[in-house]
Amino acid sequence: MRGTNPKLALSVTPVQNKTFYIRTYGCQMNESDSERIAGTLIDGGYSMVASADEADLVVLNTCSIREGAENKVYSDIGRLRLLQREAGATRTVAVAGCVAQQEGPALMARDRSVGLVFGSRAISRLPELIGRVEAGERVTAIDIHTRPDAPDSQVRGDPHRAWVTVMEGCDNHCAFCVVPATRGPEVSRHPDGVVAEVRELAERGYVEVTLLGQNVTSYGKNHGTDFADLLRRLHAIDGIRRIRYTTSHPKDFSDRLMDTLADCPKVARHLHLPLQSGSDRVLARMGRGYTYAAYRAKIERVRSLLPGLAITTDLIVGFPGETEADFSATLDAVREIGYFNLYGFKYSRRPGTLALTLDGHLDDDTRDQRLATLLAMQKATTLRHYQALVGSLVNVLVEGVSKRNTARLSGRLENGALAHFEGDPGWVGSFRQVRVTQASASALIGVAV
Ligand code: SAH
Ligand code: SF4
Ligand code: F3S
Repeated sequence: MRGTNPKLALSVTPVQNKTFYIRTYGCQMNESDSERIAGTLIDGGYSMVASADEADLVVLNTCSIREGAENKVYSDIGRLRLLQREAGATRTVAVAGCVAQQEGPALMARDRSVGLVFGSRAISRLPELIGRVEAGERVTAIDIHTRPDAPDSQVRGDPHRAWVTVMEGCDNHCAFCVVPATRGPEVSRHPDGVVAEVRELAERGYVEVTLLGQNVTSYGKNHGTDFADLLRRLHAIDGIRRIRYTTSHPKDFSDRLMDTLADCPKVARHLHLPLQSGSDRVLARMGRGYTYAAYRAKIERVRSLLPGLAITTDLIVGFPGETEADFSATLDAVREIGYFNLYGFKYSRRPGTLALTLDGHLDDDTRDQRLATLLAMQKATTLRHYQALVGSLVNVLVEGVSKRNTARLSGRLENGALAHFEGDPGWVGSFRQVRVTQASASALIGVAV
């Protein structure tokens, strides 16, 4: 849940004269929401086009996790305004996602070109909201306290791999994080609905699902169930061959869930378990609810149950008050655990968060240097993990033709690593055995056997 590059995931043939374009920022939750926004708009008579210039309605599905992500949205709104002025076009700009949910009506005041601001829990109401905008109103529809929409129309961007949102929101209050404010309190979907959706996906030929939620490990509380039970039910569905899930919280990563993972081989042997810091003092100030020793004990137990498990993490450097000793504790933890890969972030101030009120905010240079040190150290470890695969046979789900070299196919191993190899484009969507021949710190090269 971290990229902030704008992506256009979907494309359909125009069927009517009103057109839309969606730009998606941020995490997989937003990618999944964009598929639902597209589906709802198409049901409402709109058709999708390939660029903002051609669209009557431009939806920016935004991310607010770090300052940079939010600023990108404002600069894109500014660029759209210029485009509009030059072309004299009458285009509606709609802002969705986490910046919409954070700023609400303030976004309207900030920029006259924004006609609609809506939250992820209002997607199914889009046709009505757009009708009001077309009638000249400027509309805000944000309510993070309503229940999430039922998964209605969704235009899936991939015919073999599907995202399935199992819960919305977050009840934790990590001191640095804006998500509980932007996504609202935690609400899980009913397990029967999730199972029915995945069963239907399997019938349509999907082989991989990724279960999404801000904290899937606390799934199910409002339905008297848990994530382990959900996994068992999904594991029993014929046709689904790989199940991924993200993100897990260490304090909710239970023995029961670990035992379930061990019993369910279709669940990919990849665990993303954000540590955030290796220093207990910083973890306490962050309000994460665990110590490094408790985290480490969970890693040991899950590794003993699932040998070969690839473990990845998220870490924040330069949290307010982080000393050199605290930062060293993070490096020690990373060294000790030997992560398969990690996402490192420098602490970013977010509106309304507790961390803003803490003392000891660090300067940019210190945060930059710590991040560079962390990333350089991990790069070497990831390269070692990848090199250890050279010579072995790996099972790859073929995702598509390689972007850089169209003679090659690309796909992912169970552990999430990307592999490139020559083959028939007809293999896309199937699993292939690949002999790994070369490794870099970002991908594997191999030969299909
Ligand atoms: N629900 C997920 C987090 C989603 S945000 C979880 O708990 O794991 C993804 C990552 O962004 C977080 O794990 C954290 O490492 C990072 N992040 C969140 N807020 C941040 C901030 N204010 N500054 C820097 N990184 C942040
Ligand atoms: Fe943010 Fe913490 Fe919730 Fe993750 S668990 S979304 S980091 S508050
Ligand atoms: Fe960004 Fe919101 Fe996802 S802040 S990371 S789009 S939950």
